Amino acid sequence: MGEKLHVDLSGAPQTMLATLYAKALDADLPKPILGDRFARDIVDRIDYDWSKTSITTTNSPSVTTRTAHFDLWARQCLAVHPEAVVLHLGCGLDARAFRLDPGPGVEWYDVDYPDVAELRRALYPARDHYHVVPASVTDPDWLAAIPTDRPALMIAEGLTMYLEPSDGIALLRRIVDRFPSGELQFDAFSRLGIRAQWMNAVVRRAGATLRWGVDKPDDIVDAVPGVRLLAWVSPFDSPSFDGVAWYYRAVSNAMRAVPSLRYMAQYHRYAF
Ligand SMILES: C[S@@+](CC[C@H](N)C(=O)[O-])C[C@H]1O[C@@H](n2cnc3c(N)ncnc32)[C@H](O)[C@@H]1O
Repeated sequence: MGEKLHVDLSGAPQTMLATLYAKALDADLPKPILGDRFARDIVDRIDYDWSKTSITTTNSPSVTTRTAHFDLWARQCLAVHPEAVVLHLGCGLDARAFRLDPGPGVEWYDVDYPDVAELRRALYPARDHYHVVPASVTDPDWLAAIPTDRPALMIAEGLTMYLEPSDGIALLRRIVDRFPSGELQFDAFSRLGIRAQWMNAVVRRAGATLRWGVDKPDDIVDAVPGVRLLAWVSPFDSPSFDGVAWYYRAVSNAMRAVPSLRYMAQYHRYAF
């Protein structure tokens, strides 16, 4: 193996090292939840003290079940719209375009801050119909360069909570306004989840700040004209949870019994 790539990030961009590492640990398990060999390979090529992420095999399902869930929803959407434009926002070093390997009709855009985009370009091969966009998702300019002649699938996993609420709503409105139709798929933390961010070791260690809390689908439907709710799911109720180990399930079941904890994190899916 060649020389490893040194990585020095802080704040929100650093958190994607934790999600990447969770996927790499999962890939080594005898019964992985996600089984992402790309994450495994990329972790091996980065020079980083991974213990700083606070991710272990025990807590990795908090990431991998989420990623598996959004893979499922994305696959469902692309099966119906094989000619979609995919806006994969706050992509970090996630390999979704490679895991899903969509057909040639799909034009895929991975969007993240320039530092992260540069890392992606160094670590992933090029592929047809695939683009890396170095930008803040809240900057309206990058979206102006994306073709709008077909349905859009916006996937934002682990992103919304880092945005200012007004920026997040403006982003969703911009996408809905620009494209003829499509889906918005994203996870969110409740306002309680935002208040409890000091308990989130990944966020704390990265020195990141969580800002946007969403309590229920009406928070989105009322603020973004033209969207229709397709699904609103607690992570504990996701089919991706079926594969977690018994000890993880035991703790999760206790949290699931308390509504405010059951929906502290949520998966949202809308059509427009
Ligand atoms: C928790 S990581 C999730 C990464 C990836 N989606 C995953 O699930 O592995 C959050 C990502 O959002 C990105 N991010 C946060 N705010 C952003 C913004 N305003 N514009 C672009 N990317 C942003 C960070 O750089 C980071 O890569």
